Amino acid sequence: MAIVLGIESSCDDTSASICIDGEIKSNIIAGQAIHAKYGGVVPELASRAHQQNIIPTVDQAIQQAKISKNDIDAVAFTRGPGLLGSLLVGTSFAKGFALAKGIPLIEVNHMQAHILSHFIDEPKPAFPFLCLTVSGGHTQIVLVTDYFEMEVLGETLDDAAGEAFDKTAKILNLPYPGGPLVDKYAQEGNPFAFRLPEPQIPDLNFSFSGLKTAILYMVQGEEKLNPNFLEERMADVCATVQQRIVSILLNKLKKAAKLTGVKDIAIAGGVSANSGLRKELLAMGKTYRWNVFIPKFEYCTDNAAMIAIAGYHKFLKQDFVGQDVAPLARMPM
Ligand code: KG4
Ligand code: ZN
Repeated sequence: MAIVLGIESSCDDTSASICIDGEIKSNIIAGQAIHAKYGGVVPELASRAHQQNIIPTVDQAIQQAKISKNDIDAVAFTRGPGLLGSLLVGTSFAKGFALAKGIPLIEVNHMQAHILSHFIDEPKPAFPFLCLTVSGGHTQIVLVTDYFEMEVLGETLDDAAGEAFDKTAKILNLPYPGGPLVDKYAQEGNPFAFRLPEPQIPDLNFSFSGLKTAILYMVQGEEKLNPNFLEERMADVCATVQQRIVSILLNKLKKAAKLTGVKDIAIAGGVSANSGLRKELLAMGKTYRWNVFIPKFEYCTDNAAMIAIAGYHKFLKQDFVGQDVAPLARMPM
């Protein structure tokens, strides 16, 4: 039997999870509401909150899994990429815990873990599969040939998809993080109410910065004609923006599937919680006869269950790191 404790602290969520023989038994997430009033994550405040939250979060994960601290066989933690001060809290905790208990330490790449969240529940994708990983910091199309063999086929040249949602929300005076709110308003709106350009970016890469500017100009123009524009048309604006972001993402995913011939297609990361993306991907999957894999909502945004499952697969390979390990703000796959 293998019991792995997973720790995630790369951005503004402190999370701990227990994985027993590949099954997730707990996944506790402590969010940080404090950032909302600043319109984005404040790194200094994030690290302090992680420091306060980490021990109660781990305690709760252990309790909910109905095990004791002494039963844990290994500690897996997010080494990067992420905010350095935030990563330091999880990394230091994991190192201290492993040292005290005399158990191995496992480093996990946050972006790989988002993809490996597909190995938490059934049905699991078969190798090779393609994963569109879309979060607040990343937008990548990844060819996954084994648990830890991943090749980035394309990525964003500027903003990430989550950033595009959040920056749009800011233009629309919606609070941070705006992605879920844009999604909520979009459900009531007309996705073809306005015209937004589709960027012409070669290969499998993405660009979202032009879209943000186009939205800003569109809103400013409309507000000149009608000062109550946003109040009256919020749903239509959100629906249009969401449909454009989703179509940019899915057109590239379709291209990647065609180029590689791969038919198992997955999405991961915070933006994979988006209802428009989930719906359109399912429809596209039907058209092209793909096997589509969409994570449960709780495994889309940052969570430690994905760290624990990645850690479990590294535990099976006895892939451990020493106590001299340090976090990495940038960490390639
Ligand atoms: O993966 P994640 O939790 O954190 C990072 O590693 O970045 O992703 C957070 C991002 C934020 O930009 C947030 O606005 C976006 O995911 N997001 C959404 C939705 N839920 C979260 N974007 C669009 N629609 C959603 N329903
Ligand atoms: Zn993430």
